[in-house]
Amino acid sequence: MSVEDRGFIFGDGVYEVWRVINGRLFETERHLARLAFGLRELRIDTPDIVREEMLLEVADRVLRDSGLSNGEASLYVEVTRGAAPRAHAFPPAGTKPTVFVMANRLTPADALRERGAAAITMPDIRWLRCDIKTIQLLPNVLAKQAAAERGATEAIMIRDGIVTEGSHANVLAIFNDALHTHPLTNHVLPGITRAVILELARSLRIEVVEKAFTQSELYEAQELFIVGTTTDVMPIVRVDDRTIGTGMPGQTTKRLSQAYRAFMDESVAAERGVVARSG
Ligand code: PDD
Repeated sequence: MSVEDRGFIFGDGVYEVWRVINGRLFETERHLARLAFGLRELRIDTPDIVREEMLLEVADRVLRDSGLSNGEASLYVEVTRGAAPRAHAFPPAGTKPTVFVMANRLTPADALRERGAAAITMPDIRWLRCDIKTIQLLPNVLAKQAAAERGATEAIMIRDGIVTEGSHANVLAIFNDALHTHPLTNHVLPGITRAVILELARSLRIEVVEKAFTQSELYEAQELFIVGTTTDVMPIVRVDDRTIGTGMPGQTTKRLSQAYRAFMDESVAAERGVVARSG
């Protein structure tokens, strides 16, 4: 990769992370649609990788070469505006976007899920297009580091007194037995896990309320959890050293976590791999 790559110089790019189970991608189309949306919003030319056949072919090769065709893994795809002499405005027409793909082993934090994790709150100092999954993640990095330094798993970000999301996960809470989460606005990433969880909740007849809640309401939640591709469903039982609910993972969180695992396993098993597709 060129040192003049605009991803390296300006953070001028977007990325996606897929959950991979036994070499099969989870929610292929939804992640591709979000990638296409980000590219469109940033006016980066659409590379071939956003076509499903191309993605599956590349993913299959990278996963096999990395020895990750079995078990749990994640697939990372980054697209930048390409390499060109440093200048803030877009590079000359015809500059090819850079595409980078890697696969990594993913070890779900099952033991922590059993007892629940701690979180801290942090001011949300990000820009106003958090709906785009850009590679500019400095506020997220600083928030997560602050959490780590306080022995917590995640930082929950607060903008104008309102809970937005975590450093790399969406935040959901149970109030009066209903599932609450921030609506899809420019202040949060439209998480794929969030979308799946809301669908599962509705199918389990759990009331879903897409309405923002405040930091003070957060501490009073019956149950609290975060969701994301690499996070799964993670119960949060302490925030800023205050106990949430009973201090143990709640019943609704557990139900949703189990439903999510079952749905993920079923849907990847139903996916045909690249070999099956072309054969
Ligand atoms: N993070 N919010 C933020 C800020 C995120 O970075 C992520 C994902 C999510 C959850 O989105 P999804 O359910 O689509 O993974 C919410 C990825 C996994 C990461 O940066 O590692």
